[in-house]
Amino acid sequence: MRLLVTGGAGFIGANFVHRTVEDRPDVRVTVLDKLTYAGNRASLQPVADRIEFVHGDVADAGLVDRLVADSDLVVHFAAESHNDNSLRDPSPFVHTNVVGTFTLLEAVRRHGVRYHHISTDEVYGDLELDDPAKFTESTPYNPSSPYSSTKAGSDLLVRAWVRSFGVAATLSNCSNNYGPYQHVEKFVPRQITNVLDGVRPRLYGTGRNVRDWIHVDDHNSAVWTIIEKGEIGRTYLIGADGETDNRTVVETVLELCGRDPGEFDFVTDRPGHDLRYAIDSSRLRTELGWEPRYRDLRSGLAATVEWYRSNEDWWRPQKDATERAYARTETIVRP
Ligand code: NAD
Ligand code: TYD
Repeated sequence: MRLLVTGGAGFIGANFVHRTVEDRPDVRVTVLDKLTYAGNRASLQPVADRIEFVHGDVADAGLVDRLVADSDLVVHFAAESHNDNSLRDPSPFVHTNVVGTFTLLEAVRRHGVRYHHISTDEVYGDLELDDPAKFTESTPYNPSSPYSSTKAGSDLLVRAWVRSFGVAATLSNCSNNYGPYQHVEKFVPRQITNVLDGVRPRLYGTGRNVRDWIHVDDHNSAVWTIIEKGEIGRTYLIGADGETDNRTVVETVLELCGRDPGEFDFVTDRPGHDLRYAIDSSRLRTELGWEPRYRDLRSGLAATVEWYRSNEDWWRPQKDATERAYARTETIVRP
C-alpha cells in the first residue's frame, strides 16, 4: 500500500509514522510536511531511511496532485493546531486547515484515492463542568476559537465531498493527546519542561477546565482501525475516558518530578477558554471493536515525563521562543 501522511513531522503524525513503519512493513510511507515551527525533521529521524520525506505545503495544488496520484491512501494530519496561536494570528489556520484540506479533497476526488481526515473534539464546542453529557457523533458543531472553527470547516468540506462527489473518506474527532514528540507550546509538555527547568507551571484561569486525555498511540491505533474497518462517509469519535482537570494534571506532573504539588501559578485565562471536553467513543468500540491500551493517565504521564527528561536535545531549541511568546500575554494573577 502507498500511504501519504500529511503533517508527519508534527506530534501525532510522527508517532503515526513510527507505528506504521514498525507494524506494517507492507506500507510504503511518504510524508508531506511544510516544516512550520511545529514540524521537526528530528521527530522522523528514527525512521528516516524507511520513509520518503517531501517538504511542501498541503495547499500547493500541483505538488499535492502529483503525490496523491501516486498514493492509495491519504491520512491528513497537517494543521495549525494550537488554540493560543489562533488567537494571536488566525490567518495560517484558514490557509492550512481550510484551504489545505480543500486542496487534498480535490486531489483525492480526481484520482479516486481513499482519504482519512484527522480532526478534534473541539469542533463540538464545550460542555458544562457538572454536565454528565459527553460528545457523540451527533452533537451539533459549535466551535469556539479560530483553531476549532477552521477544523470544523475542514470536517464539513470532507462530509460534502463524500456526499456530492462520492469521495471515499472517513473522519475521526479525537480528544486531547499526550505523549512523546509533542511541541512544548502544548499544556502537558510545557509544564513538564517548565518543571524540569525549575520554573513553576502555569494554569490558565481557575485550573478547573477539563480535558479528556488520550495517549497518542491509542489515537493512532484507533485511526488504523477506522481506516481498515470504518464505514465510508462516517465520523468516529476517539477517546479513552481520560477526563481530568488541568490542576490535577499539573499536580501529577509535579509529584512525578519529585516536587511539591502546590508549586504552580495561576495566570490570565485564555479568551473564550472551553470549559470541558468529554468523548463518548461507544461507536468506535462497539461497531469497530477498538479499545485503548493506556487506561491510567498517571502512568502515561510518568512515561512522558521520562521521555522529555531523556530527550532534551529534541525540545530545548523551541523552549525559549515558546516561553517568550507566552510572556507577551501571560500575567501571574494569584501567587
Ligand atoms: P502539530 O502542530 O504538532 O503538527 C502539525 C504538523 O503539520 C507539523 O509538522 C507542521 O509542520 C505541519 N503543517 C502545518 N501546516 C502545514 C501545511 N500548510 N502543509 C504541510 N504541512 C503543514 O499538530 P498535532 O498535535 O500533531 O495535530 C495533528 C492533527 O491532529 C491536527 O489535524 C489536529 O487538529 C489533530 N488533533 C490534535 C489533537 C491534539 O491533542 N494535539 C487532538 C485531536 C486532533
Ligand atoms: P492545550 O494543550 O493548549 O490544548 P487545547 O486548548 O486544545 O485543549 O491546553 C490544554 C488545557 O490546558 C486547556 O484547558 C488550556 C490549559 N493550559 C493551561 O492551563 N496552561 C498552559 O500553559 C497551557 C498551554 C494550557
